Amino acid sequence: MDRYYVLGNPVEHSRSPYIHRFFADALHQKLSYEARLVPLDAFEQTVEGLKKEHFSGCNITVPFKEQAYRIADDLTARAEFAGAVNTLKYENGRLLGDNTDGEGLVTDLMRCGVALAGARILVLGAGGAARGILAPLLERNPSELVIANRTVQKAEVLAEHVKSIAGCSVRGTGYDQLKGHFDLVINATSSSISNNIPPLPADTIDSSTRAYDLMYSPVDTVFVTYAKSKGAEAWDGLGMLVCQAAESFFLWRGVRPETEELIRKLRSDMKK
Ligand code: ATR
Repeated sequence: MDRYYVLGNPVEHSRSPYIHRFFADALHQKLSYEARLVPLDAFEQTVEGLKKEHFSGCNITVPFKEQAYRIADDLTARAEFAGAVNTLKYENGRLLGDNTDGEGLVTDLMRCGVALAGARILVLGAGGAARGILAPLLERNPSELVIANRTVQKAEVLAEHVKSIAGCSVRGTGYDQLKGHFDLVINATSSSISNNIPPLPADTIDSSTRAYDLMYSPVDTVFVTYAKSKGAEAWDGLGMLVCQAAESFFLWRGVRPETEELIRKLRSDMKK
C-alpha cells in the first residue's frame, strides 16, 4: 500500500491524517497516511529513512518547510518561488518538492466567490506564510498588490522578490503608509495567535472589502471579527487548509478530491 505522512514538530494536532484519509475513502484510493513527530535536529535523517521504506510522499509542517525545500531533488515553480515546501512526492528515487499553500488559498477564495482579477489586494505580513501565497495570487491578475508589514524593510524586500513575476504594480510598505480601500485584505501575519490584529488605518477595510485570515479557529479570529465589525465579508483559513491538502492529494494521486463536504464537516466538528 502507498504510504504518506505529515512530518512536523509539534504534529499531534495536525488535521492532515483525517483530511487525507477522508479524501482517500471518498475516491476509493488505497493508501495509508500517518502523522510523524520529527525531532528538531533529525528532519533529513527521517526523510532518508522514509526513502528506504519506499514511502510515496509527505506533507511538511512547522518548522521543516525550509529544510524540505533544501533537500528536494526537484522543485515546482511555485515551491521555488515560495522558498518553502509543504509537499514532497517520492518517485523513481527522486524527491519532488511542491508548495500547495498558495493554490489552496486561491482555490478557497474562488469557492467563497472572491474575484481576484482586477482586484486591489493587500497582504498583511512578510514572513514565510506571506511569501508562500504571493505567486498564485499574482497569477490571477490583480490590478495591484501591496504588502504591509510591521518591519517595513521585510515588506520591501519581499515586494522586490515578487516584482519579477508580477504583471501589476507591487509594493512593500508599513501599516501607517496605507491609503484607501482594498478589495481583498489577507492576513498572513501570525498576530491572531496572540489575539492581536495588525494596526490598519480605519479606511483599509470597509463593507465592500473581502477579508481572509490564513489562521483558523472554532470561533472567529480577532482579524475576522474586526473585518466583520467594519461590515466586510470575512473568512478564516479552514477552507485553505482543506484546499491545500486537496492540491497535495492531486499531486500524489492524479485525482482531485471534492472539498465542500469536508470543510463543512470540519467546521461543525470544531464547534462541538
Ligand atoms: P510565518 O512563517 O508564519 O509567516 P514569520 O516568518 O515569523 O512566520 O512571520 C510572522 C509575520 O507576522 C511577520 O510578518 C510579523 O511581522 P514582523 O516581520 O514585523 O515581525 C507578523 N506579526 C506577528 N505578530 C504581529 C502583530 N502582533 N502585529 C503585526 N504583525 C505581526
